[in-house]
Amino acid sequence: MNQTTFDGPAARTLEAVYQTPDLIAQRVRVLDLLAPRPGEHIVDIGVGPGLLAYDLARLAGPDGRVVGLDVSADMLAIAHERLASQANAECMEGDAVRLPLPDGGFDAAVSTQVYEYVADMPAALAELHRVLRPGGRALILDTDWRSIVWHSHDEARMARVLACWDDHLADPHLPARLGPLLTAAGFVVKRVEIAAMLSPGWQEASYAAGIFRAIHAFVRQNGARHDLADDEIEAWRVDQERLIERGEFFFSLNRYLFLATR
Ligand SMILES: C[S@@+](CC[C@H](N)C(=O)[O-])C[C@H]1O[C@@H](n2cnc3c(N)ncnc32)[C@H](O)[C@@H]1O
Repeated sequence: MNQTTFDGPAARTLEAVYQTPDLIAQRVRVLDLLAPRPGEHIVDIGVGPGLLAYDLARLAGPDGRVVGLDVSADMLAIAHERLASQANAECMEGDAVRLPLPDGGFDAAVSTQVYEYVADMPAALAELHRVLRPGGRALILDTDWRSIVWHSHDEARMARVLACWDDHLADPHLPARLGPLLTAAGFVVKRVEIAAMLSPGWQEASYAAGIFRAIHAFVRQNGARHDLADDEIEAWRVDQERLIERGEFFFSLNRYLFLATR
């Protein structure tokens, strides 16, 4: 992972995107599937801005406990601020492949949009398995970027822009491998679902709007590795602006939720 992805202003940008209706709907589905109960101990691996951890803390209640881990100091600062009012929640620095947590200490775990950044997935899932009690639940959500449908007037150029964007992840296609990886780590996969980030038209407060800007910034910095010249990147951006003006913007991307038990 390029760590700068989540440091500095990027942390606040991501926090804003994560408060759009698409992401609120995703969190509702994550909570429905995980079904946290009062008194449970829950770990959020890659807690990010802490929006999900905040909801988990409210559902776990005063007898429960929520621990949020992240490798980014800037993300942890935001999560810490958000969780300050929740006496049963805490945040700490921790890497998914080396969790600073005891064996079997948690009833449930969540990790949303995190494992796709992790190169050593067998190590990360072994750690997830270790910290859950027998029968404990894990809810994992990641994107497969092959599922994208993003309208443009130049499909070849769009494909090159997206190939460059794939570089920001350890595995942009993790969901297709995740079931067997979970089984190999000793989990039983109970359910797999899609959460779509769908914008059939332009919406300023949407995942699509946020990711359009994030991809533009990333490709401007890293396009050279994919022979993407500045004028070509600018043409890609202008094409999207024209589609937005004409009411022809279309974006759809699938995230995959896996519910598994230890
Ligand atoms: C796209 S954000 C998702 C944040 C949060 N899970 C959510 O869904 O709102 C990815 C987060 O994972 C963190 N992260 C990336 N690699 C990590 C690792 N190896 N261990 C722990 N956190 C990691 C990043 O710092 C960032 O906060």
